[in-house]
Amino acid sequence: MKIIRAKDYQDLSRKAANIISAQVIMKPDCVLGLATGSSPIGTYQQLVDWYNKGDVDFSGVKSVNLDEYRGLPKSDPQSYDYFMHEHFFDHVNIKPENINLPNGEAPDPDAECARYDKVIESLGGVDLQLLGCGRNGHIGFNEPGDCFAKGTHCVDLAESTIEANKRFFDSIDDVPRQAFSMGIQTIMRARKILIIISGKDKAEAVAKGFFGPITPQVPASILQLHPDVVAVVDEEALSLCDKV
Ligand code: GLP
Repeated sequence: MKIIRAKDYQDLSRKAANIISAQVIMKPDCVLGLATGSSPIGTYQQLVDWYNKGDVDFSGVKSVNLDEYRGLPKSDPQSYDYFMHEHFFDHVNIKPENINLPNGEAPDPDAECARYDKVIESLGGVDLQLLGCGRNGHIGFNEPGDCFAKGTHCVDLAESTIEANKRFFDSIDDVPRQAFSMGIQTIMRARKILIIISGKDKAEAVAKGFFGPITPQVPASILQLHPDVVAVVDEEALSLCDKV
């Protein structure tokens, strides 16, 4: 794992956007695995900016998102589908038919998980997977547990995740209790992984995930086994790691 120290969130966002645009320039028809949450917003803004300047072209790119809340329609401003359009898709030239997310409204969760895994497989897997990280070390919505989930699955969100994500909703009762998430095996099969982590409240997740034992109790720790991971982490998030 290569850890790149960023000064702050803005620096982290530029560095991450540089790595993603390099991927798109090197392979214009690549498959990007994309993430939501507050961490990648600055990265998407930077990519939109470079797109507007003519520096990067998304016309051949295909995307698969990591996760989606179960039960929210795409039109709900809290859905990840809505988020992706608001922060990225609507501002660049990615083709609508090349955009893929789990369908939060699918009536049969098992069928939806199987469909999503097939979509990823039919695209030939992910070239570059962008990840954020939850305070408890979750990636996508792979919560701490007794084993690493393989493919796309329907997850019961951890109380701490519901608590952390309530800031986006009117009240904690509005936060969905379940989500669809790409599994750890699918994430680990991505040819390259870029994880971005910012802020003091993530310092423990960074220390345990990158320097602690590999355990499903800290899902991000599995990334230590991937051959090509770049972690762009700001100084606050690195504050409990004296080795970097
Ligand atoms: C959510 C998402 C994750 C994200 C995490 C951290 O639970 N499912 O993909 O990485 O939150 O979010 P943030 O970047 O807002 O801290």
